[in-house]
Amino acid sequence: MKVTVIGAGNVGATVAECVARKDMVDHVVLIDIVDGLPQGKALDMAQSAPIHLFDTRITGTNDYADTANSDICVITAGLARKPGMSRDDLLGKNAAIVRSVTEQFVAHSPNAIIIVVSNPLDVMTYVAYMASGFPSNRVMGMAGVLDTARYRAFISAELGVSVRDINALLMGGHGDTMVPLPRFTTVAGIPLPELMEASKIDAIVQRTKFGGGEIVKLMGTSAWYAPGAAAAEMVEAIVKNTGRVLPCAVWLNGHYGQEGIFVGAPTRLGSNGVEEILNIDLTADELALMQHSSDDVRSNIEALERIQSA
Ligand code: NAI
Ligand code: 2OP
Repeated sequence: MKVTVIGAGNVGATVAECVARKDMVDHVVLIDIVDGLPQGKALDMAQSAPIHLFDTRITGTNDYADTANSDICVITAGLARKPGMSRDDLLGKNAAIVRSVTEQFVAHSPNAIIIVVSNPLDVMTYVAYMASGFPSNRVMGMAGVLDTARYRAFISAELGVSVRDINALLMGGHGDTMVPLPRFTTVAGIPLPELMEASKIDAIVQRTKFGGGEIVKLMGTSAWYAPGAAAAEMVEAIVKNTGRVLPCAVWLNGHYGQEGIFVGAPTRLGSNGVEEILNIDLTADELALMQHSSDDVRSNIEALERIQSA
């Protein structure tokens, strides 16, 4: 199996390394517009193989011909968020980049599955879907796995329990309108509200919503360790056809009252990409949050269309 990672920056390099270290595919190709960068990072990673003990081949390139016949592609190309910049500030510039890299990639790998990471995530996934011409099961976005990981990390620290025992679900767009669902959060099967008072849960939900911004403020650029690991977890579910249920940005077609946009929902992943979008009964309040988040994504798609027609 062959996995291409487009964009050899912070997130892309981390995805490539995480995928390689899982030792589950033959070849990881790292591609970037900057000459030498993907080649250098790939060489460095390949030289860690005898230490980490993996057999995955890693190569870097600036030429899409080298990505030919990939099974999976992770798109991380684009600008990262700087302090004071919202994910949506990235809209126009990253849309042009994501469209261009998608077109170049699909010309060489018409049967691949695409996972988008570039921001603003839900809109960039829509852009890649349109540019690829692929069926919706073969295009998805990574955000929910990251947001859920942040949420679980905060719960683990607060309760002093292992992250292994925390199961959680977040839905909606990747941004301040994301929809955490505490009643679907459990610690070793125990619903979170039985272990933590409501005000603490609310504080953790708030911190999760702004978890990306918290890191941008600290470092002057956005996160990469958890985002890279999150995308690699999705790659693994597809490569190994595990049927893992992960929150992914997927094309909603009537699910949760939404149509024609990519938004986060619980998704069963397998060798066909999106095998199933799980429909769970949300309360009226949760549905309203989902509607608000979806409207936010929709308004960004409209903003992009305005930028493009100007
Ligand atoms: P970075 O600046 O470290 O890397 C981006 C890379 O994309 C650079 O190496 C750049 O040369 C490359 N690039 C730009 N235009 C290109 C093109 N046309 N073709 C190929 N490569 C191109 O940025 P970082 O931190 O890796 O972030 C990448 C993207 O991922 C950003 O849009 C960021 O906002 C997003 N992100 C999304 C997350 C999510 O949860 N969905 C989490 C973290 C970051
Ligand atoms: C994050 O959540 C900025 O989307 C990026 O870290």
